[in-house]
Amino acid sequence: TPSSLLVFAGSTRQQSFNRKLAHATAAIARDAGASVTLLELSDFDIPLYNADLEAQGTPADVIRLKEILWQHPAWVICSPEYNGSYTALLKNTIDWASSPVKGNPDWQDGGKSFRGKVVGMLSASPGALGGLRSQSHLAPLLINAECWLAPKAFALGSAGSAFDDSGALIQQTHRDRVRAVVDQVLWASTRLNA
Ligand code: FNR
Repeated sequence: TPSSLLVFAGSTRQQSFNRKLAHATAAIARDAGASVTLLELSDFDIPLYNADLEAQGTPADVIRLKEILWQHPAWVICSPEYNGSYTALLKNTIDWASSPVKGNPDWQDGGKSFRGKVVGMLSASPGALGGLRSQSHLAPLLINAECWLAPKAFALGSAGSAFDDSGALIQQTHRDRVRAVVDQVLWASTRLNA
C-alpha cells in the first residue's frame, strides 16, 4: 500500500549508528501511521557484483532482496559515510538490485527496478557533518535508477551521543527532522501510486 515504508541502513556493523537511525526512523514512521518494514542487509548473503556470476543465475538472496524492494513503494535509506561517500555495501546492494535481469521481478519495467520508488535519505556519523557528503553521492545514484528523491533529508551529526539506551533519538529536533523526511516520502508515494 502507499503508506508502507521500507527502511534500511547501509551498514551491517553491530553497533551501527545508521542501523540505530533506521530503527528510530521505523518507530517514528509507525507513530505517523505507516506500516514499516525494517530491512537488515546482514540477513542477505550477497556477493560483490559480477556480471558473470549473475549470468549463471541471480543469487537467491538477491532475488529475495529485489522482491522486498519491489513490494515497497517508499524507502528510507540510512547512509553511513566512508571517505566522503556512501558505503561499498550500499553500492553493491543497489547495483545488484537495479540490474536488469530477465526473469526477475523488475524486468517488466525494462530493468529500471527503482522506477516510481520514492526515497528519503538520512545519514549518521560520529562526525559533525553527519555523513551529509554520502548523501550528495547517493542522490545521483538513486536518480539514475529512476527513484523520486524527497527534497528533505537529514544528516545526524555526533551520532555517538544522539541515541538513548533504548535506541530512541534523544533530541526532539532530531526526531522532527526524521519525521519531516518520513512525511514527505509517504506523501509523495501516496500520490505517485494513486
Ligand atoms: C569512516 N568514517 C567517516 N565519517 C565521516 O563522517 N566522514 C568520512 O568521510 C568517513 N570516512 C570513513 C572511512 C572509512 C573507511 C571508515 C571505516 C569510516 C567514520 C564513519 O562515519 C563511522 O565509522 C560510522 O560509525 C560508520 O557508520 P555506522 O557503521 O556506524 O552506521
